[in-house]
Amino acid sequence: MVTPKPNETLVVAVTGAAGQISYSLLPLLANGTVFGPQQRIQLRLLEIPPALTALSGVTMELIDGAYPLLESIIETSDPMVAFRNADVAILVGAFPRKQGMERKDLLSKNVSIFKTQGEALSQVASRDVRVVVVGNPANTNAMVLSRFAVNIPPRNISALTRLDHNRACAQVAHKLGVSVGSVDGVCIWGNHSSTQYPDVIRATADGVPVLAKLGGAETVAEHFIPVIQKRGAAVIKARGLSSAMSAANAIADHMRSWICGDDKIVSMAVAADGSYGIPEGIYYSFPVRCLGRGEYEIVQGIEIDEFSKRYMDATKDELLSERDDAVSLLA
Ligand code: NAD
Ligand code: LMR
Repeated sequence: MVTPKPNETLVVAVTGAAGQISYSLLPLLANGTVFGPQQRIQLRLLEIPPALTALSGVTMELIDGAYPLLESIIETSDPMVAFRNADVAILVGAFPRKQGMERKDLLSKNVSIFKTQGEALSQVASRDVRVVVVGNPANTNAMVLSRFAVNIPPRNISALTRLDHNRACAQVAHKLGVSVGSVDGVCIWGNHSSTQYPDVIRATADGVPVLAKLGGAETVAEHFIPVIQKRGAAVIKARGLSSAMSAANAIADHMRSWICGDDKIVSMAVAADGSYGIPEGIYYSFPVRCLGRGEYEIVQGIEIDEFSKRYMDATKDELLSERDDAVSLLA
């Protein structure tokens, strides 16, 4: 069984553990925010060798946090050590885009990281491990991981689009002047990239549809959708660094919904299974119902109009093209 495991200790592996997202994420894992106030955890922190000194400082801070639920911490640069018996793996570490790098160069660096990590997870993680890929390009990294993690069912692997989901809910709330908790029915389709489709067609606030209040489909296309699609880039422009606090919060939300269940429909990039005409073999963000214990189902039966279909196809085509590039790099 995956989690919660109140009488046992949950083994949680985090990669890129000395990076900026992990610095906001690790306290949320250690203090019970993610897996609940009864769940003891062991942390396995993976970094590349040049970052191990920085990682030792992060570990000192975790120790100094005196978290009662945190049983032990292992720091390593070996994926076979980090992933041994892991119940949950949060894959934040990835090769960053550097100036002058083409998309294919970035993909080629990450394909080899996620191939290695997929093989290691497959060999040593718990058979029931639940994996979320955060490092970009997250959907395609998850696809590569899944190909090499032959012992892990593709549905136990996901990529993070909860940050985009949260951004969309927050923008609806902001525009309508309501609390974000009252917003429901938002979802993200497709890739965690600027082609993603943040869908508010069926969204409500306090049970009342919001589309007309947002100005109707045309205004949403012109003003709302691009804000969500470009939000990551806007944060980078303003901060000089990519979003980290909000990304960590979204990872916490993603794992809590997946493992503990959620009454609301949320967005997760998961293995496509033909639903909504999205072919198997890519990781595509869908509206999902999280049933708890690491189970989810893609919400079925949503009527897709021409407006939505255009967006959904564009982001699907981007993912198919990323898949082809990744496959050719692997060959
Ligand atoms: P960061 O550069 O601060 O940290 C990344 C860490 O990963 C670094 O410490 C680096 O040493 C480590 N790392 C690199 N390769 C590794 C490997 N093979 N194994 C283990 N660790 C490795 O970056 P960050 O701000 O924490 O962001 C991490 C990733 O998350 C980036 O790819 C970023 O684009 C992505 N991101 C995704 C989302 C999302 O919603 N999916 C949101 C924000 C950021
Ligand atoms: C985000 O959505 O904030 C990040 O994925 C942006 C990035 O390129 O790291």
